[in-house]
Amino acid sequence: MLSKKIENAINKQINAELWSAYLYLSMSAYFECSNLGGFANWMKVQAQEEVGHAMRFYKHVIERRGRVTVSAIAAPPVNWKSPLNAFEDAFKHEQKVTEMINDIANYAAAEKDHATANMLQWFIDEQVEEELSTDAIIQKLKMIGTNTGGLYMLDRELSQRKTK
Ligand code: FEO
Repeated sequence: MLSKKIENAINKQINAELWSAYLYLSMSAYFECSNLGGFANWMKVQAQEEVGHAMRFYKHVIERRGRVTVSAIAAPPVNWKSPLNAFEDAFKHEQKVTEMINDIANYAAAEKDHATANMLQWFIDEQVEEELSTDAIIQKLKMIGTNTGGLYMLDRELSQRKTK
């Protein structure tokens, strides 16, 4: 059985992962509207992955005989000043998600809930990858600056991303 504290924290995390999906879907729509289809594709794949993250947490609560309670998903922003601004927001958001996952890992360690700790290990590794991949695009966007040729090349690269 899950403790109430961990159950509540995971329910909050399910909401946060679904909000992440909503955020990235909104960013995808922003890029579509800016004629950057490759960036839009990258964000759409990211949104799909976030739904998968929510479902991993969902499965854990169910398997531990806990109770999933879904709650309202807040509206994300809809506009950004530039592609760089959008990716900087995505990076800040991922850092926040990492903190939330670390908090649950701390609760699991304190309660000696090894099953939750084990499940969280996948997320701890995933957050390293998510922060890295977002930051890598930020660094490329900074290098590109106002060079539209560079932006076009990066857009082509990001169009290659596929669902895992
Ligand atoms: Fe599910 Fe991007 O963290």
